[in-house]
Amino acid sequence: MFSTCLLLVHRKTVVFGSIASSSVTCRHEKYLWCFPQEAPGDVTNAVKVAIDAGYRHFDCASFYHNETEIGVGIQLKVKEGVVKREDLFIVSKLWCTCHEKSLVEAACTRSLRALKLSYLDLYLMHWPMGFQSGRNELPLDQEGMVIPSDTDFLDTWEAMEELVDAGLVRAIGVSNFNHEQLERLLNKPNLRFKPVNNQIECHPYLTQKNLISFCQSRGVSVTAYLPLGGSRRMQTCLISQRLPCALGSSEGVHLLEDPVIQRIAEKHSKSSAQILIRFHIQRHVIVIPKSVTQTWILENFQVFDFELSEEDMNDMLGLDRNLRLATFPIAGNHKDYPFNIEY
Ligand SMILES: NC(=O)c1ccc[n+]([C@@H]2O[C@H](COP(=O)([O-])OP(=O)(O)OC[C@H]3O[C@@H](n4cnc5c(N)ncnc54)[C@H](OP(=O)(O)O)[C@@H]3O)[C@@H](O)[C@H]2O)c1
Repeated sequence: MFSTCLLLVHRKTVVFGSIASSSVTCRHEKYLWCFPQEAPGDVTNAVKVAIDAGYRHFDCASFYHNETEIGVGIQLKVKEGVVKREDLFIVSKLWCTCHEKSLVEAACTRSLRALKLSYLDLYLMHWPMGFQSGRNELPLDQEGMVIPSDTDFLDTWEAMEELVDAGLVRAIGVSNFNHEQLERLLNKPNLRFKPVNNQIECHPYLTQKNLISFCQSRGVSVTAYLPLGGSRRMQTCLISQRLPCALGSSEGVHLLEDPVIQRIAEKHSKSSAQILIRFHIQRHVIVIPKSVTQTWILENFQVFDFELSEEDMNDMLGLDRNLRLATFPIAGNHKDYPFNIEY
């Protein structure tokens, strides 16, 4: 069913995660950086419900500020004997302020400590862009734009390769890389470990046809983030404060209510979310829907008992309008900003 090396490892397990995203809110006069706020304990509970339901892949990042809660949930389920560590596939990501070679191992170790793990299955460079290092995760200049570091992602990659040597991570990959950046990395002289995965925004309004076929032709698996169009709560918060989001559009997308998606859902007696998740599975793309709601966590797992027809898939692909939600406008001037080229 799947062709990527990442997925071959997980042939017998379920390969999409339910990870509660975090609670970062940073107000600047021009932007609001905002992730939905989860109540204390909700993330741990979501992890427990998800593991009981059969989820095995968890997508984390230091930037989500919830790795400690995720670690508690994982540890509880391992102690209960519901799951073994080696049956789980835990992903985390290196944040942009830690791209300097000397900062990479400490960043990875912090994630491991929070997650209460001795190794990660996959460690991703969260963005190709390095930011000024320091305690502030979003260092901004007076114009409200991100302050870059003078790092090059090829050097950062070398430090990530050392994490594999040290046994701290099993594999390394990237996120939000465009095809030129990925090509540059793949062609790096003396590349010791190939990026196994590129995690990118993907859904029927941004189908990423070219980037997916580029990655798959180079043996790099693809993970789709924002598969349901993201959080309604974030959109409501932004719209009510009349602020654009530092991450991207505040207009929101209403993928779950799209009439084409709803028609296909009705035809298969499934929910819109299940249709949106299944869409990726049939494209051989890993998909990581997020939820802290028990009924949705369970619902999002019921996607292996039906198949979308070729016509359904084509109708969904036909919804493409190149609508990117995570545009990260405050990093738009960065030399490694990934979204200035077509794909
Ligand atoms: N690499 C990157 O730069 C990057 C960027 C963004 C996201 N990500 C990753 O991708 C994951 C998913 O993206 P996302 O969380 O932004 O967006 P998403 O998965 O597209 O949407 C999550 C939202 O959908 C709701 N939801 C979940 N299941 C539902 C269902 N069956 N019916 C109706 N609503 C449902 C969730 O509600 P509740 O949570 O309230 O239950 C949540 O508000 C993140 O958790 C993160 O791990 C990566």
